[in-house]
Amino acid sequence: MSSNQAVPENSPHILVLGMGGTIAGLAPNPELDPRSYKAGELSIETLLSTIQEEIPGHVKLLAQQVANINSRDLGEDLLTLLGNSVKTSLENSAVQGIVITHGTDTAEEAGFFLSTTCGKLAEKLGKRVVLTGAMLPANAPQADGPLNLIDALKWAATSPENCPGGVFAVFAGKVCLARDLAKRHTSALNAPLMDSPSSPVGLVNPSWMSGVRATQEACGDDLPIPQGLWPWVEILTSHAGARPEAIEFLANTGVQGLVLAGTGLGGFHQAWEGALKLAQDKGIALIKTSRTGAGMIEEESALGLTAGSLSAPRARIALQLALNAAKGDKSLTWQDFFARIVVLPEIR
Ligand code: SIN
Repeated sequence: MSSNQAVPENSPHILVLGMGGTIAGLAPNPELDPRSYKAGELSIETLLSTIQEEIPGHVKLLAQQVANINSRDLGEDLLTLLGNSVKTSLENSAVQGIVITHGTDTAEEAGFFLSTTCGKLAEKLGKRVVLTGAMLPANAPQADGPLNLIDALKWAATSPENCPGGVFAVFAGKVCLARDLAKRHTSALNAPLMDSPSSPVGLVNPSWMSGVRATQEACGDDLPIPQGLWPWVEILTSHAGARPEAIEFLANTGVQGLVLAGTGLGGFHQAWEGALKLAQDKGIALIKTSRTGAGMIEEESALGLTAGSLSAPRARIALQLALNAAKGDKSLTWQDFFARIVVLPEIR
């Protein structure tokens, strides 16, 4: 990790953590083909230098490069590093807030992970952790990264009277809870939050804010960040012609959990039933979600816990964190920890 020494580390500042992504990407031919580019090329210091003029004078920044990757390659070791860094920084009294530049492809996982492991701490300390990124590379003529970064810095620096602490995300002029991030379009500039409850950054929508407060109240304590190897959990999608072999293979290869992205209300192909029953009898955790991308899972069944309204990628992180937490706390089961993450008010 590198850090910018322009601001002394013990004076009040917003910490900006660089993870890479399109916001730090460069296209060889930006005028003609801005969508062909390499993510994670520019350093976080370079990104900040391009918006220096726009940053209000009272906002002091310190930058750290945690990684510089295309987020489709995000690994659990990097989530651990990011989570540890966010947690330690929140506890540092000189850090007023944290902005993270991240690739949009897996911002959903990173946002959910940070919300579940650091959200309560951020709330308690009245500090904001804000994820942002971009859909166009830094040298594209209409690059969206600079404005997203400025908005994220402003949101991180907003006074606590106007917004509680917590983990948020800012894209295309909108802010949402980071646990609601979900990229729902391949290229639209608002793809990461187009279907998420959100508010304009500049003029906060009171009904969104009351939803934020209700959600935060319903969220349980932070779960521990896995240190070392995370539990192995895979996502399987049910579809026409689904076959049981993939389940059998994973069950015989040491998988600890399966997230089932079912059809409609979360049902899955009957061809899976026998293999899932055997997997469950072996102690493999089963979680049911829907591949539709929105709405609650209503269906209760003997096979698998429901994930409420969580998407499959979020349910996977939730299950990994629950399995990890249960390993370190013998008084509660992974099901107890999972329920603590999933139960949220209806407004969602
Ligand atoms: C990435 O996720 O790193 C590339 C795509 C993006 O940031 O939009």
